[in-house]
Amino acid sequence: MTEWKKICSLEEIPLLGSRVVKAQPLDIALFRDGSGEVFALHDRCPHRGGPLSQGIVAGRHVTCPMHGWKIGLADGEAQAPDKGCAGRPEVKVEDGGVYLRLG
Ligand code: FES
Repeated sequence: MTEWKKICSLEEIPLLGSRVVKAQPLDIALFRDGSGEVFALHDRCPHRGGPLSQGIVAGRHVTCPMHGWKIGLADGEAQAPDKGCAGRPEVKVEDGGVYLRLG
């Protein structure tokens, strides 16, 4: 069974930055882009498992710190010609709080 769980307030995720949430089976990286929109990806690059939370956010993607793959924040997809997808946990923002659906 899954349920929405409040993780933090919106301000606790820096603009163009991230925050890691410990979770099973994979940690989750919460990101905010330059406009303040919030995204969630598993903190594991689809290439070789690099920590996406430590990557650089620009536009609507994050660049993996390991080998530079660009991963879409909205869809988790690696930018061509690379192929792969980081999992996308469900995330929502409500009343200034950030929630993840965890199971
Ligand atoms: S592990 Fe992310 S680009 Fe290689």
